[in-house]
Amino acid sequence: MAKTQVTIVGAGPSGLMLCQMLHRHGVDAVVLERQTREHVGARIRAGLLEQGTVELLNEAGVGERMMREGLVHDGFELAFDGRRHRIDLAGLAGKHVLVYGQTEIQRDLADAAGARVIWEAKDVAILDSEGSSARISYVKDGVKHEIRSEFIVGCDGYHGASRASVPKDRIVHHERIYPFGWLGILADVPPVSEELVYANHRRGFALCSMRSRTRSRYYVQCPLDDKLESWSDERFWDELRSRLPPELAGKVVVGPSIEKSIAPLRSFVAEPMRFGRLFLVGDAAHIVPPTGAKGLNLAAADVRVLYQGLVEYFRSRSTTLLDEYSMRALARVWKATRFSWWFTTLMHKFSDEAFAYRLQLAELGYLAESRAASQAVAENYVGLPFDC
Ligand code: FAD
Ligand code: PHB
Repeated sequence: MAKTQVTIVGAGPSGLMLCQMLHRHGVDAVVLERQTREHVGARIRAGLLEQGTVELLNEAGVGERMMREGLVHDGFELAFDGRRHRIDLAGLAGKHVLVYGQTEIQRDLADAAGARVIWEAKDVAILDSEGSSARISYVKDGVKHEIRSEFIVGCDGYHGASRASVPKDRIVHHERIYPFGWLGILADVPPVSEELVYANHRRGFALCSMRSRTRSRYYVQCPLDDKLESWSDERFWDELRSRLPPELAGKVVVGPSIEKSIAPLRSFVAEPMRFGRLFLVGDAAHIVPPTGAKGLNLAAADVRVLYQGLVEYFRSRSTTLLDEYSMRALARVWKATRFSWWFTTLMHKFSDEAFAYRLQLAELGYLAESRAASQAVAENYVGLPFDC
């Protein structure tokens, strides 16, 4: 049986970041990933990094390309009722965010991890996470393997095996499913604006984002049961333009999509985030709707707390930080869950009810007039402090 200090399940951003931080601090870790490297690297997801995430990637020694190619954004815009209001992140919260795609982070981290990742590890099963050591099994190329380690970390996303292995009576799930999805497209056209634009419109929400100065990422709110086949590029561009203020709509440069997908929106928190020798990190423990751009950043914040606890443990056998992991991570998770829920509620169309729409407009109007209200948005958007 193979032995290591920490077995990590899942080579998404949280698994690879944790592996890299542990490696930098002399702790041995193996990552078991069900998919191929190419498959994981091709998923178009997050695009916006908080400063804390940027710092962690730099500490991990994988930030060089990110610092060179990432786009610094000092603000973003809210569009509603024919108006536009800029949230000045730098002025109101003293911080900025960085546009750098998850596909790029994944590449930088996978390069650094090298052979520490076992790709295409099938049938991962947690055999023991409560005894004097932890045991996990997996199948690679048809051969079953077992690893013994001190800890197992579940970084295997919402549908992973780690959380599913926890007995029902030891875990509490909090969940809210939103009655719509996001249809996203990626296109090699220059972004409509230098900064992101979040639009509340009677027809539904729209978001103008980007990956670079020549690659745009746009989203429109769509019914949950919509099929991709019913969204031609032409229909998407028409719908996007119809939801933007006219002066912006007129500037949208259209082109063929290079990716198109529909994502459901969900808020989810599992409590606690530790079960004996098993820890949950990132999407395995919590999901937020993408409106606040918090998912990947929350995963990075979990990694920050956990790697410090693991390093302390392997240096001194002290369990103080590990014992605090769940409580410290969840304090921040709930605040980001609140912000993501609030921002989603403010910007999306939930029904045809005029009252609900007028309340949204009143709140957006208040935001535009109140520095205090805008500051609250800015502080949450750039990321709350780590010990909040
Ligand atoms: P994942 O990325 O889900 O990785 C989990 C990994 O575990 C996967 O590679 C999976 O193949 C593997 N795995 C699963 N089960 C098993 C198993 N049984 N055995 C072995 N391996 C397994 N976040 C932001 O911060 N900013 C944004 O702008 C943003 N935009 C988003 C836009 C969209 C459309 C979506 C869908 C998400 C967005 N997010 C955003 C969220 C962000 O992408 C996720 O929060 C992030 O990917 C979480 O990383 P993770 O490593 O925890 O989980
Ligand atoms: C993205 O670029 O994919 C993106 C940006 C901001 C969000 C969500 C997604 O809030």
